[in-house]
Amino acid sequence: MKQLINVKVQARRQDFADAAVDLLAVGLFDSKSLDPVCRNLDGLLDGAIQRLTKLGDFKAKRGNTALLYTDGRIAAKRVLLVGMGERKKADLNTLRQAASAAAKKAVSLKAKKLGVALHCVMGPTFDYAALGRAAAEGAYLGSYSYDEFVTTDKNKRPAVLTVEIIDPEAPKKAAIGKGIAAGDVIGRAQARAKTLANRPANILSPAALAEEAKKLARGAEGLTCTVLDKKQLAAKGMGGILAVGAGSVNQPRLIVLRYRPSGRHRGPRVALVGKAVTFDTGGISIKPAANMDRMKLDKSGGAAVLATVRAAAELELAIEVCGIVPAAENMPSGASYRPGDIITTFSGKTVEVQNTDAEGRMLLCDAISYADKLDCKIIVDIATLTGSCLVALGRHMAGLMGNDEKLTTQLLEAADQSGEKLWRLPSGDEYAEEMKSSIADLKNIGGRWGGACTAAAFLRQFAGDRKWAHLDIAGVDLLEKDTAFSTAGSTGFGVRLLTMYLVGLQKK
Ligand code: BES
Ligand code: ZN
Ligand code: ZN
Repeated sequence: MKQLINVKVQARRQDFADAAVDLLAVGLFDSKSLDPVCRNLDGLLDGAIQRLTKLGDFKAKRGNTALLYTDGRIAAKRVLLVGMGERKKADLNTLRQAASAAAKKAVSLKAKKLGVALHCVMGPTFDYAALGRAAAEGAYLGSYSYDEFVTTDKNKRPAVLTVEIIDPEAPKKAAIGKGIAAGDVIGRAQARAKTLANRPANILSPAALAEEAKKLARGAEGLTCTVLDKKQLAAKGMGGILAVGAGSVNQPRLIVLRYRPSGRHRGPRVALVGKAVTFDTGGISIKPAANMDRMKLDKSGGAAVLATVRAAAELELAIEVCGIVPAAENMPSGASYRPGDIITTFSGKTVEVQNTDAEGRMLLCDAISYADKLDCKIIVDIATLTGSCLVALGRHMAGLMGNDEKLTTQLLEAADQSGEKLWRLPSGDEYAEEMKSSIADLKNIGGRWGGACTAAAFLRQFAGDRKWAHLDIAGVDLLEKDTAFSTAGSTGFGVRLLTMYLVGLQKK
């Protein structure tokens, strides 16, 4: 398989005019006056930037870019003006997106060295390490494209993109560098999650995902990976995972990727549980054909969890993390589970299946019980769980449900830091009521309305007394069309969010 792009991000202390890069990215806010950095460059470029803005050819809206050729007037070969929108609305995500746009442009120009001078317009309220992190993450976001199976592309992009985040002041450069170190790990982890999610189901079976998890475990200190196969799942009584996987020749797995810090542990043991349905046809309750190919992304939660655990290890966090990923393919066949079946889950609770397309909760319930068994004090699950969540929130935010205020608040803080947005939704008793069955303990679908909430209310009952939160990422898992910032396909949603959640725990 083709090698994905290799991004190298570093901080550099240098005057902007001296940066010998193929492309120098400069940020502009949507205002009359240029920032000092821009004004300075504009002077060196004989007013080229002002000419452009005055003509109205470049409006500094988010995602707008304009390319200038420097003709040897500064060390950079080209300058890319990157629009950052309204200054008063600027946040970390503004910089992250601007860096993405710059990296995307760099790749399309086949530039090998990108200089980033975007952070310097951000104003004094921002922490330099956070700016470095966001810029580094952006470099990964924008340069990514899923092309491992493209063999005929003659217009190849460079194998390595070097990104230098430039600042003339030594103390700032040092602070930025610290952020870059984290952003580099997180950005790479997110690219990994995207690739796992983007891989089609004929390539990435549950067994293949387990192999990838083992590879991830080999790449950093403190990681161990254990995999339960169908036989072992049966021996443990994991009826939910087995039911979902029953219809496919690609047998299910339970993947456990654990990170144990080498030094002193801090805080409670955390479980991250990720749904990995390698393909969701709906099973016997089969889905309509239109856009069914998108259901290869039904493993996005699992991919995010595996990548996050690896990131935790690379960042040498002092938190113990159990990544628990139930993996199965939901297919219709003579061996499939059916509507009407009663399944005994790992917890002992029985579930009446009313719709085989509500499979995510069937395998997550076993994984959540397993997290409880591993004595994880906090359980956060992430899953492309319901079409209802997509209807409710669109593709901009993931649904957040939970049973603990503190955990919920911490996740909302991590959302702020990471730019992966969350919106709270309920999952309490009213919704749990709808999940009761008359012939088993639970049924796997609720009434017609509030499907994201009833699904969460189902899962909640397997978390027992543990602190639990649920992220419904159906919707935010996929970018349908290319934008100025990234290419269509998996978004890798959750890697930045969950990693920042773990980083935040460490500080407490
Ligand atoms: N994987 C789907 C949810 C989904 C839908 C993800 C759209 C991404 C985009 C899930 O397994 C599913 O099919 N859920 C059903 C549940 C229903 C049968 C209660 C749904 O949401 O329609
Ligand atoms: Zn489904
Ligand atoms: Zn599904």
